[in-house]
Amino acid sequence: MRSLIDILELTTKELDELIAVAEDIIENPSKYSESCKGKKLATLFFEPSTRTRLSFEAAMYELGGNVLGFSEANSSSAAKGESVADTAKTISCYADIIAMRHPKEGAPLVASMNASIPVINAGDGGHNHPTQTLADLLTIKREKGSLSNYTIGFCGDLKFGRTVHSLIAALSRYENIKVVLISPEELKLPDYIKKDILVKNGIEFVETTDLDKVIGELDILYMTRVQRERFFNEADYIRLKDSYILTPKKMENAKPTLSVMHPLPRVNEISVAIDNDPRAAYFKQVLNGKYMRMALILKLLEVEVK
Ligand code: NCD
Repeated sequence: MRSLIDILELTTKELDELIAVAEDIIENPSKYSESCKGKKLATLFFEPSTRTRLSFEAAMYELGGNVLGFSEANSSSAAKGESVADTAKTISCYADIIAMRHPKEGAPLVASMNASIPVINAGDGGHNHPTQTLADLLTIKREKGSLSNYTIGFCGDLKFGRTVHSLIAALSRYENIKVVLISPEELKLPDYIKKDILVKNGIEFVETTDLDKVIGELDILYMTRVQRERFFNEADYIRLKDSYILTPKKMENAKPTLSVMHPLPRVNEISVAIDNDPRAAYFKQVLNGKYMRMALILKLLEVEVK
């Protein structure tokens, strides 16, 4: 039995297989519509979510399975002081697989060590978010035709942005990727990711505070929200929240083939005027996330679809 806590637990071959299954689901949805019949997914969300929780639920319904769970810590026994380990043991009696989001880094790992069913990390604090990465990889593959050979810029809150951390780790598996890190000084990518992922894998990267200066070099621009809930004080958040706002004017200097990605929710960092630009890929990412979560549920439940 396997869980998914960190994206690097999946080999490159497995990532490519998940993408292939998701693309087959897109082509032949009816083939999969009963494949998880009788199975239950528990969504244990101790932190707010729209896309991740509902796409897991939609994914399980589209596989013919059922869903149970809670969407806030206050409506679970966590409010009474129950530990993550005990919650995981309990839910193992009711469901076949868990998707868990938690504000504490490492909580889904603790759950996986105590559950007798697979646990999927649906976001742990400012750490990791492997299933958003699956959505991002399918989007890159479909937008660019390949997961290799491009320059990707990450812009915004690279310190607390867990989707950035997981995607950078996954990209280290692919060839000839250049990374441009665009953030205010205070929100730079953590050193451990630079050292353990970028430097260790020989990935070329630069750091800058200036989006305008680099936008023309990018094939993909991955925008992020400043993660208000991870700040220790509101004044810092207010000072930094509008550091980068992507506008049609800024897009004039970008390549016509650029893909603009964003894990969403967006606050101010992408002007809504860009939504109709053919380079906007962020709502496609949402749909791709559902297909990749379907592929992942099938894999972890070891369901074979012929
Ligand atoms: C992201 C998250 O929760 O980390 N959202 C998502 O799951 N798509 C990004 C964010 O909240 O900014």
